[in-house]
Amino acid sequence: MYLDPDEEKMLAGERGETLQKMLELLVALGKVFGAERLVRIRSAQVSGASYKTIGEYGLAWLSSLDARAVVPAVLNPIGMPRGRWKEMGIEPAFAERQQAVIAAYERLGVNLECTCTPYYLHETSFGDHLAWSESSAVSYANSVIGARTNREGGPGALAAALVGKTPCYGLHLDKNRTPDVVIDIKSDEKDWGIARFGALGYHAGKLVGNKIPFFRGISPNHDQLKALGAAMAATGAVALYHVNGVTPEAKKNQFDISGLEVISIGSADIEQLYTDIPVDAVAVGCPHCSPDELIEIARLLNGKTVTKPLYIFAAQGVIGNNRMTIDKIEKSGARVYADTCMVVSPVMEQYPAIMVNSGKALAYVPDMCGAVARIGSIEECVTVATS
Ligand code: F3S
Repeated sequence: MYLDPDEEKMLAGERGETLQKMLELLVALGKVFGAERLVRIRSAQVSGASYKTIGEYGLAWLSSLDARAVVPAVLNPIGMPRGRWKEMGIEPAFAERQQAVIAAYERLGVNLECTCTPYYLHETSFGDHLAWSESSAVSYANSVIGARTNREGGPGALAAALVGKTPCYGLHLDKNRTPDVVIDIKSDEKDWGIARFGALGYHAGKLVGNKIPFFRGISPNHDQLKALGAAMAATGAVALYHVNGVTPEAKKNQFDISGLEVISIGSADIEQLYTDIPVDAVAVGCPHCSPDELIEIARLLNGKTVTKPLYIFAAQGVIGNNRMTIDKIEKSGARVYADTCMVVSPVMEQYPAIMVNSGKALAYVPDMCGAVARIGSIEECVTVATS
């Protein structure tokens, strides 16, 4: 693997032990995956931020590092909202260790945003190289923005943030970004909402595994694409997909899809995911809500009071920029939390059945929260939470 003179010096330890170790890690990854060189990244998104996941060993490792991020870097959601953990019922002992993890990342120059939607916070453009970890964020960056990132593990993403580069292999290369399966949607999707695209992604992910699908017959907007990609990354391992005439690389390139396997998905395939089981709580914001989603939730909740816990999750920066909308939502008794989510927060484990509007949450809530999950549109979620 080629290293330029600066990288050689770093690898020789001339820029300190931490950067030496970080570059060793990146070079090792590059060699495993056949990278010929490193590539500069525009930003990093680092998983391994929840104390529940990394524990004392992870915290000790982070605390041993001595360097600062050289590109904008954010964290994945953690187990609690930093400012409102008491209100959420988080145990003080857990909160104290979680704060220690966050402090360790802050010392490394990582921005203390804990979100799976970094694209709402840091400008990310077509063709940018990134080192992002969270699967829905990776899918969105690659597919909806046309940026380039592999799905990084936590240490790899942190190393990339500190060095400012990542090994150039996989989805950083044109040749690995072409479709390898076609999905034809045999259904009129004109009145589909975000949840219906999440349900489509839930079903499609199971069918395609880690292939790159090329969808025909749908025209989703950005929030719907976000839901579709998040679910396919959860039930499958889809890190990039294209939608004919919609996603940037599908618009820019004439992909040769002749000879590819063609899968048809119809309404019945998606309908079978819907149930009307009674639920104990409702959770929205997987992936974290966009400003438009928050506005829609506020509109639906206007004049209503929640009768079941209604949790809404979004990035701290998005919440801060939409304070009036958040106040309108919380007037109903619903709560909008930053930094965490329905899957990584222990608070959701108290509910036996949870309603969501996300295909990804439908896939993860049963295992991660030990709850039965039901999917419904955002309108249905608000109706269930307020009736
Ligand atoms: Fe984000 Fe948590 Fe869903 S990290 S994609 S809200 S499971």
